[in-house]
Amino acid sequence: MLDPARAHETMLLGVPLVVTINADGTIAVQRVDHAALHQDERYGLVWVCLGTPTRGILPIPEADEPDRPIVVVGSVGVRASGPRVIENFLDLGHLGYVHARYLGDDPHTRVLPYTVEPLPEGGIIATQCKMFQPQASPAATEGFMVDYIYKVERPLATCLYKANPVQRDRFDIIFLIVQPVTEETSIAHPLLLCLPDGTTPAALRAFQQTIFMQDKPILENQVPKRLPLADGAELPIAADKSSVAYRRWLSAIGLTWGVIRADEKARAA
Ligand SMILES: [Fe+2]
Repeated sequence: MLDPARAHETMLLGVPLVVTINADGTIAVQRVDHAALHQDERYGLVWVCLGTPTRGILPIPEADEPDRPIVVVGSVGVRASGPRVIENFLDLGHLGYVHARYLGDDPHTRVLPYTVEPLPEGGIIATQCKMFQPQASPAATEGFMVDYIYKVERPLATCLYKANPVQRDRFDIIFLIVQPVTEETSIAHPLLLCLPDGTTPAALRAFQQTIFMQDKPILENQVPKRLPLADGAELPIAADKSSVAYRRWLSAIGLTWGVIRADEKARAA
């Protein structure tokens, strides 16, 4: 929540911004250098484009489902590049270690085979992901084998479809939208689109914050800070299929922000 009594400074792609709340409750974002920008509000977040958008905000069709309220978890600053934050979110292999007793645990740490495919509009989708989770969400009363689908539709926006612990034939959705602050720092904005299962928004928020706080030190200790895109820059194993596909897609679309491109290996040192 922003304090309406004062202006807030933030940054997008290295460009300083000032955020103020108008008397009518609307949020105004301005560049410090007063150059034009484009802003919009959706899903409880303010979306800013430094230039003229060439396409719309990420569509989230499930946000229109009446039994699926959007819970804004809150923003978390991370000293890691945006692509590193997204890649960590996709990583099934870390669940049993970093999120032990919640999203995975010994002896169920092995990542079972899953499928990764390109999305027709760009991006990737990982399906048939399965992980035994002792405490998959605040509503889970026992551990169970959780089905996951991961999607990355934009370079810095990803989501996870996760079997609901009560309605196991439907999915809760967790979005992670990353604000690229500088090439090596980010602000993560998680959004929850969960089915009603008796869990309060406060409990959902607290659970996600606990999970993200387990990720934060791991992310901040990754070296190099920017994500290396060269094949073989960091040794992949079979469990990293989605990470490899994500890096290749970023290479293919020519992303330069927060990454070490394959042709600039020297800067990684
Ligand atoms: Fe994590």
